[in-house]
Amino acid sequence: MRFSTTLIASMAVILPVLASAKGATEQALLKTAENAVPGESALFTTYTGKKTPLASNYTQVINATGTGEPGQDDLLFQNLLAAEWVIYTFYQQAVETFNTSSFTKLGFPNTTYERIREIRNNEAGHARIFQDSISKNSLKPGPCKYSFGFGDNAMEFLALQVYIEVASQAFLTGLQLQADLNVSRATLMAIGQVEARHNTWALIENWKVSPFSGPSDTTYPYANQILDMTNSFVTSCPSENPEYPSPRQNLPQMVFWANGTTATPGSQIQPYFYQSANQPKFQTGKEAL
Ligand SMILES: *[C@@H]1O[C@H](CO)[C@@H](O)[C@H](O)[C@H]1NC(C)=O
Ligand SMILES: *[C@@H]1O[C@H](CO)[C@@H](O)[C@H](O)[C@H]1NC(C)=O
Ligand SMILES: *[C@@H]1O[C@H](CO)[C@@H](O)[C@H](O)[C@H]1NC(C)=O
Ligand SMILES: *[C@@H]1O[C@H](CO)[C@@H](O)[C@H](O)[C@H]1NC(C)=O
Ligand SMILES: *[C@@H]1O[C@H](CO)[C@@H](O)[C@H](O)[C@H]1NC(C)=O
Ligand SMILES: *[C@@H]1O[C@H](CO)[C@@H](O)[C@H](O)[C@H]1NC(C)=O
Repeated sequence: MRFSTTLIASMAVILPVLASAKGATEQALLKTAENAVPGESALFTTYTGKKTPLASNYTQVINATGTGEPGQDDLLFQNLLAAEWVIYTFYQQAVETFNTSSFTKLGFPNTTYERIREIRNNEAGHARIFQDSISKNSLKPGPCKYSFGFGDNAMEFLALQVYIEVASQAFLTGLQLQADLNVSRATLMAIGQVEARHNTWALIENWKVSPFSGPSDTTYPYANQILDMTNSFVTSCPSENPEYPSPRQNLPQMVFWANGTTATPGSQIQPYFYQSANQPKFQTGKEAL
């Protein structure tokens, strides 16, 4: 009883503050960005600003400050951080481009923009977690310039969102096979769970389809190949960034013709290799040369 009285009393103090000073609260929150910890700060969950929740000293290449041996999983987390910059920027661009009515006018729920913004916050938190997972003896890659091609088309953004979330679930699961440390595997698992929730939300709320894909996701044995697919969005990178993904096979990239298919499960698709300078050669009885 005493507990609930205290709780109600504190809420009575807090609620008017929230109501009267929403904008000011967002500004105050942003001022804490340099020291914000994912899991503790609202910047990575409920923050409602269009401006990035990341402080500027984290949205650039961070040089190594030590000269010792790299951490055991530094390469893994450099790859993941480079992938995360793609995903975070995808959402940050959407938060800046769209608003609630961009989605409601297409018939999507009136919470769609809010969810996209929350996912943006989560993805910013992932970038910080991956930065912190790289030891001081290795460089932390910075964001590149990206072109996602959705322009101001909210429908195209939502379609691409499912593609990006499926890719992220797939590489987070597959990359567990490359982790040396148990704690790294646990980090990948924890982040993969959150990405799966993002996709589950999109499938149920926006696309009104079953979110289930089967009893188990695939532990893809060559997860760097999935990471490499995200290079199709990259236009230029800071010169200090390491090769991404590393190692990179630079295999010919494949997409499918969008004409003549719904691309839904069970439908036929016709794939093709879109990089004219990077075409596969086939030989009977062998995989691509
Ligand atoms: C960013 O700034 C904060 C506050 O000054 C500091 O504690 C933190 O170490 C900085 N991080 C980087 C990567 O520079
Ligand atoms: C990081 O190191 C590069 C040289 O490797 C240097 O040009 C750059 O100014 C450094 N960046 C910072 C923020 O110190
Ligand atoms: C949402 O964005 C559109 C297009 O930029 C603009 O016309 C509209 O006023 C905005 N709506 C709100 C509520 O901000
Ligand atoms: C959002 O949509 C729900 C149901 O679809 C409706 O009950 C609610 O009033 C709407 N909220 C706003 C702010 O439009
Ligand atoms: C990882 O976990 C396994 C199983 O608990 C344990 O045997 C192993 O020592 C752990 N490895 C490291 C590097 O902590
Ligand atoms: C789709 O367009 C491409 C390029 O014009 C063509 O080669 C292909 O046959 C078309 N596919 C279908 C199913 O119409």
